[in-house]
Amino acid sequence: MATTGRPRAMSGTIPSMEASHGEALKDNTIIIVLGASGDLAKKKTYPALFGLYRMGFLPRDVKIVGYARTKMDDAEYHKRITSYLKVPEDDQDGQARIQEFKSFTFYVSGGYEDGPSFEKLNSFLLDIESKYQSKQAHRLFYLALPPSVFIPVAQHLKEQCYSTTGKNRIIVEKPFGKDLDSCRVLLSSLKQHWSEDETFRIDHYLGKEMVKNILVLRFANIAMSAPWDKNSISNVQITFKEPFGTEGRGGYFDEFGIIRDILQNHLLQVLSILTMERPVSFSAEDIRDEKVKVLRAIPPIERSDTLLGQYVAANGKPGYLDDDTVPPNSVCPTYAATTLWIHNPRWEGVPFILKAGKALNEAKVEVRIQFKDVTQGIFKDISRNELVIRIQPSEAVYLKLNTKTPGLNTRAIPTEMDLTYKRRFTEAKIPEAYEALILDALRGDHSNFVRDDELDVAWKIFTPILHWIDGKSGPSPKPVPYPYGSRGPKELESFIGKYGYKRTVPEYTWPIMNVAAL
Ligand code: BG6
Repeated sequence: MATTGRPRAMSGTIPSMEASHGEALKDNTIIIVLGASGDLAKKKTYPALFGLYRMGFLPRDVKIVGYARTKMDDAEYHKRITSYLKVPEDDQDGQARIQEFKSFTFYVSGGYEDGPSFEKLNSFLLDIESKYQSKQAHRLFYLALPPSVFIPVAQHLKEQCYSTTGKNRIIVEKPFGKDLDSCRVLLSSLKQHWSEDETFRIDHYLGKEMVKNILVLRFANIAMSAPWDKNSISNVQITFKEPFGTEGRGGYFDEFGIIRDILQNHLLQVLSILTMERPVSFSAEDIRDEKVKVLRAIPPIERSDTLLGQYVAANGKPGYLDDDTVPPNSVCPTYAATTLWIHNPRWEGVPFILKAGKALNEAKVEVRIQFKDVTQGIFKDISRNELVIRIQPSEAVYLKLNTKTPGLNTRAIPTEMDLTYKRRFTEAKIPEAYEALILDALRGDHSNFVRDDELDVAWKIFTPILHWIDGKSGPSPKPVPYPYGSRGPKELESFIGKYGYKRTVPEYTWPIMNVAAL
């Protein structure tokens, strides 16, 4: 193979992406997790912090301080935050690292709405910082909190806990409001205390390996860029499937519904990266400028482009309305398919179908780009090309191609060029989304966080349809039922058919296909 003469480690660098890092928080940093006793902290934040620690990515001598209302001692707190760390009992190194992790992880209890509690937190932080050799002290605040307390907490942190000697950063989690107006109120309240530069709004889908890969797949491959438009692409589906229902989270879920929970943020983010124009560079602002630009070309979703569903009891599993935390007769959708249109020269006329559902037959998140038919005349009943980007589980990219059936027959069969990560990158450890994002926040890189104007335009697209569902513009639509554990509402097939999606021959399966069966 020809070589360029450059050292191997240097090939394939993306300098503009690396330049996107701001000032990294290295020494003298405290990470403060607010909402430390909650589910998100336990399941995602602490495992990610531990993962980063194990891989050597946390700042030297970092301290982690949990803060929440629950009163508990350090032992109880340590038990809680380590309960989701995936380290086998017989992994001695891992177990030792957990003990080390506990040794720099502390807990302070206090309210979210009163000044004295935050003064107590600040004294705790000052006490840690008084032992630093240098005067500079950095603080990274992570808000793993319910939206009702975002604003008072952000305000108190600024007033009582803001470091005056070093950098301060704040990480916030969705939901960022419930519609355009409430999002604007939330954004402007947060902005009174925290600058855009200090704020890191998480959409954890932006931290997923495959979502990050879309930029490289699209813009580092000339073979991909040529057919990436309305001339070659017939339709695109972005699908999120979960095999469990709201189970115990019904109270929260019922207030938000599947569109706010998944489509308006996670799937729309994937859509914007898939469809944006090539950015001037891979720096945070250049990428986010292009994402906003493409989102602005999407008009609000039409009711007629929407299919709503709600799961009902089946296969021994309860229906949504059987969940005690859900109000009786709720019409909250647990499944939604909506089609978006992009009015720009690249995408005019291509339907982008976003689909998400709870209590379905499998766990899967993927992008499926279906190309147009080849010119007719030579072939009959030939399958369309499809590019599938499997975000999870088991990351993969495969391109469905027609090929001649091996042997003496002259027929074409669909097959694929397959990049399955587990096979191709056998040694690679795919980072958790939260690990990647917390590291980005420590480095000061905003590329994979949501900018204020992105949120504004995302809500513009979804607000009318959400108000319709909420009954703010006439009676709420009634979602169609689908059985727990099914593929979704039976109406789905004709819904996607309406936008031109054609199924590959039924014999086709990925990753293994039996040629003899054809
Ligand atoms: C969250 C939603 O944002 O994403 C949850 O609130 C959902 O309802 C979760 O289960 C899915 O995340 P992941 O990383 O498991 O795909």
